[in-house]
This record gives sequence, C-alpha cells and structure tokens, in this order.
Amino acid sequence: KHLNSDAIIQSIRPDKDVDGLHVVNAGKLATGDLATGLISCTPAGAMLLVRSIRGEDLSGLNAVVIGRSNLFGKPMAQLLLNANATVTMAHSRTKDLAAVARGADILVAAVGRPEMVRAAWVKPGATVIDVGINRIDAPERGEGKSRLVGDVAFAEASEVARAITPVPGGVGPMTIAMLMANTVIAAHRVAGRKPPRF
Ligand SMILES: NC(=O)c1ccc[n+]([C@@H]2O[C@H](COP(=O)([O-])OP(=O)(O)OC[C@H]3O[C@@H](n4cnc5c(N)ncnc54)[C@H](OP(=O)(O)O)[C@@H]3O)[C@@H](O)[C@H]2O)c1
Repeated sequence: KHLNSDAIIQSIRPDKDVDGLHVVNAGKLATGDLATGLISCTPAGAMLLVRSIRGEDLSGLNAVVIGRSNLFGKPMAQLLLNANATVTMAHSRTKDLAAVARGADILVAAVGRPEMVRAAWVKPGATVIDVGINRIDAPERGEGKSRLVGDVAFAEASEVARAITPVPGGVGPMTIAMLMANTVIAAHRVAGRKPPRF
C-alpha cells in the first residue's frame, strides 16, 4: 500500500511492458493501433475466447462490459469495438443493469461481486465471459474452507448462454497464456523479426 503502482508501471519501457499497462500501450489500443503495442493480458485473453466463438468480425453484435477499470473494462471495450461490436460499458452507476445485460450478444462481467449476474440477465444464446475471481466461504467442504466463484452464477447462466467461461479455469489461465504471448511478441520485435499473431 505504501508503493505508488502507477509511478512504477509508467517507468517500464513500453516495448518491454508485457502486461500492456503503460500509457503508451493503453493509448495505442485506444486509438485502434493493435499492431505495434502490447495489449493488456486479461482482456487480450478474453478477446481470444470471444473470437474463438464469434469469429474475427463482430459486426452487428451487441457487447456489454460490466466494469470500467483501466486494468480490464476499458481495454476490453476497446478490443470489442475494434472488432466492430456495438459496445456498452456498464458500471456501478448504470441504471437497470439487468436490462442492459440482457441486450448483450457478448456479455463480459468484471466486477468482483460473487455470482452477481443471474440467468435472467443473460440473453438466450449469448456468449458470456466471466472475469471475476471471488473467494467465498464453503462450509460444505469443511470448517474454514472456501472456494472460488466468478461474477456470474455459472450453473443457472449456462442453461441460457450458448458459451460461458468457468471460474476457475476460464479467463485466468488465458491471462497467463497471453503474458507468455506478449513476451514472445516483444522478443520478436527486439530481434527485428515479425511476431506471430495470437
Ligand atoms: N481472471 C483474471 O486474470 C483477472 C484479471 C483481472 C481482474 N480479475 C477479476 O475481475 C474482477 C474485476 O477486476 P478489476 O480490476 O476490473 O476491478 P475494479 O478495478 O475493482 O473494478 C470493478 C468495476 O466494477 C464496477 N462495479 C462495482 N460494483 C458494481 C455493481 N454493483 N454493478 C455494476 N458495476 C459494479 C465498478 O464500477 P465503478 O467504476 O462505478 O466503481 C468498477 O468499474 C475482480 O474480481 C478481479 O479479481 C481477474
């Protein structure tokens, strides 16, 4: 808590910023330059999951991102917009969040509130990406035990969604994979070679 994380992040060289959090990399994404910067790992991984279900071009699809953090919500919305989705960013001041969420063909939840998104918030056939990681008490596993759940009530929402990511085992491992991907991309650039596309 005594450290200023922003000052530390901004002191990293942008071409070595494999977390994609430096303002130069955030700015490139915001201006639609996906080719020369490094994209923040969790949204990059979530977008790879979206592309695997919905394809490269999201024209005509409504995407709703719940959460507007610099770490996830904003870059995720920019990636979806770049792929031609019609994007709504929702947050704690959004009115009638359930109705907003129900309009989503692609629903992304990054809030940090256990199982907040219920089945009734999910449009039938939607693609649901659950970014939240929440530890809750699990007395059924024994005294003092806990378990991880997402921001989406997985069991009920999976009855309505066409595709849904589990927690744990969904977006989390993708984040680690994209950290490796960004490292490979950065190394190719330093070596003057064309990086692979992930
Ligand atoms: N899987 C991964 O690798 C990974 C990576 C990063 C984060 N996460 C998880 O994702 C979650 C979000 O992370 P974050 O860093 O983006 O969190 P954050 O900075 O705390 O942002 C949370 C966002 O949720 C919004 N929010 C809070 N309560 C809400 C409500 N009742 N209704 C609607 N919106 C609400 C906030 O709105 P306001 O802006 O209005 O306050 C804020 O924009 C956390 O559970 C975190 O652990 C997972």
